[in-house]
Amino acid sequence: MKERVLILGGGIIGLSCAYEAARGGGREVTIIEKGGFGGQATGAAAGMLAPFSENADQPDAFFHLCAGSLLRYPDWTAAIEEASGMKAGLKRTGSVGVAYHEADLLPLRSRLDWQRAAGSGAELLSAAELARMEPLLARGAAGGIYTPSEAHVEAPRLAAALAEACRLAGIRMIGGAGSLRELALRTSGSGERSVALLTDYSGEHEADRLLICTGAWSGEFEVMFGLPESIHPIRGQICAFDVPDGAVRHMVFSSQAYWVGKSGNALVCGASEDVAGFDASVTEKGIGRLERWSSRIFPFLEGARPKLRWAGLRPATRDGRPMIGALSDHPQVIVAAGHYRNGILLAPATAAAVGELLDGTKPEWIASFSPERFAAAARGGAEAGRNLPMREEFLC
Ligand code: GLY
Repeated sequence: MKERVLILGGGIIGLSCAYEAARGGGREVTIIEKGGFGGQATGAAAGMLAPFSENADQPDAFFHLCAGSLLRYPDWTAAIEEASGMKAGLKRTGSVGVAYHEADLLPLRSRLDWQRAAGSGAELLSAAELARMEPLLARGAAGGIYTPSEAHVEAPRLAAALAEACRLAGIRMIGGAGSLRELALRTSGSGERSVALLTDYSGEHEADRLLICTGAWSGEFEVMFGLPESIHPIRGQICAFDVPDGAVRHMVFSSQAYWVGKSGNALVCGASEDVAGFDASVTEKGIGRLERWSSRIFPFLEGARPKLRWAGLRPATRDGRPMIGALSDHPQVIVAAGHYRNGILLAPATAAAVGELLDGTKPEWIASFSPERFAAAARGGAEAGRNLPMREEFLC
């Protein structure tokens, strides 16, 4: 009998893990999504594949995970495009980081050497070089950095292509399932483990392995498994100005915002980081800040109003790193969640890691991303004792 894998969550992480799990045809894979596939943070994402610009503190395990995932992108998207017959919109435009004050130039200078050693291919830019590369940028920059290896993808198109590739690979895809009602973790007399669950609208499901890929909604599962609730939503408000394709040539990063030119005359500008619970609406304050920064960095946008505004809920963890790993007390449960600002970028690396976990091997680096890493610090914390729909069953 084929191993049955049940995946909760149909965003970019759930879809990419499902596609990986189904490779080779040895597993029966089902994805259960409470709403629509590729919605939530995936549907809202600007799709930047920018580990050097976005994770610029130090060459730690997290940076290497992000940079390694960028390297996987061209082959990974090519395989998805071939399988689905749909385009993901991968563009290797490179990025420029701009600094209008000496103080903002220092972090660009200090990241240059270690990032070059890690393959960024980056170069520092003078104000004149910046103006030549991005003629629409405001004059008066102190300098910048060019990172040619960075890219971006049309996240909603990638998710749609991935969903189609999953469907064509025979994965059972259940959308509109509503919330989880009940979860049972089972151990048979011979020690075999399995799971059974019930959602609002999709009935009962049984499987040998369960993957939790529920993005900003994963905190409830942490609590369910007796872990401190560390995954929480951070709203990102984002907008798009009506700007001709190609007018802004690279992704542009400043200390306050980023800009990415998308096809369809859309210069996307993001993003706020608000604590607003599960409220994914936009606010005048949030978008107003992006408008102000847009007209400072791109003076031709003075007075322009965005043609589109939206928001998504990023799944943040306490340390900003994702959770990828199996639970020690319930090894049939794997968590792949909490990707915060890097879900699109980290999809191929996360899927590869989950593929290894399903195969029974454990990548060495994965310890840094353990879903249980906050447990020791929080033992005896306030979350214990919440009323949970999870039970353990021991079958004879
Ligand atoms: N990765 C961009 C963002 O989260 O806004």
